Amino acid sequence: MNQTKDSKPKKTAENFQCKFENIVVKPLQELSTFFHQFIDKPRVIGALTPSSPFLGKAIARRMRREIKANRRLLEIGAGTGVVTKLLIHELNPGDHLDVIECVPDLIPKLRAIIDSSGKSSQVTLHELLIEDFHPPKKYDQVISGLPLTMFPPEQVVAFYSKLENELLEKEGLFTYYEYLALPELRLCYYTLCRKIKPDNYTHLRKILKTKNSFLKEKQVESDTVWFNITPLRVIHVRQ
Ligand SMILES: C[S@@+](CC[C@H](N)C(=O)[O-])C[C@H]1O[C@@H](n2cnc3c(N)ncnc32)[C@H](O)[C@@H]1O
Repeated sequence: MNQTKDSKPKKTAENFQCKFENIVVKPLQELSTFFHQFIDKPRVIGALTPSSPFLGKAIARRMRREIKANRRLLEIGAGTGVVTKLLIHELNPGDHLDVIECVPDLIPKLRAIIDSSGKSSQVTLHELLIEDFHPPKKYDQVISGLPLTMFPPEQVVAFYSKLENELLEKEGLFTYYEYLALPELRLCYYTLCRKIKPDNYTHLRKILKTKNSFLKEKQVESDTVWFNITPLRVIHVRQ
């Protein structure tokens, strides 16, 4: 009798501790890891905080519409795995997901997500730069978190060329996300400061030109994720 009475509050306390860890401690740890990496390598990480789970949900919703057996998926720039988690959740038997991340300190977190997903045999984690990745087969969907507008223009040109020639299947879907209106606002700002910092303007113009020539004559859909610091635009491009 006594034992049952005592074990109830103990269980409630354990539940509370578990919820507190999942809702408060883990996200704060994730935030701190990501922020440290941003301070260390701002142009590689490209964001102050990881994306919100609402981004992963928006991408997963779109992914569900791609009806095909044995899909091959590639995520580039997985960070702390906010999107990865939801992509794994969407995997059907026979699908496979390759995950690319180049920052070694982010790998243990991604490894833990994959190992605890129950679908680890369908996921391969690659610790390398996308530039050094040469897959044997192309992908049905490529999801990129790369902060391309922070990259040197030559790296952006090389990325789009690799995407078209080496990564994406003929009818494949390319999904990427960027802060809502940020590229346009940056371009306005750099245009105004063009006389003081001409390089910034030229670099961004080259990057946007490369992106626009990739998008030209392709079927493009977009979605807005408002619950994120700051809101994001998710773009899906049919190859
Ligand atoms: C803006 S963060 C996105 C992280 C995560 N997907 C999210 O939404 O929170 C960009 C990620 O791309 C990775 N990255 C940057 N350049 C890369 C490259 N050349 N190859 C592979 N990953 C890269 C960074 O390490 C970082 O984790």
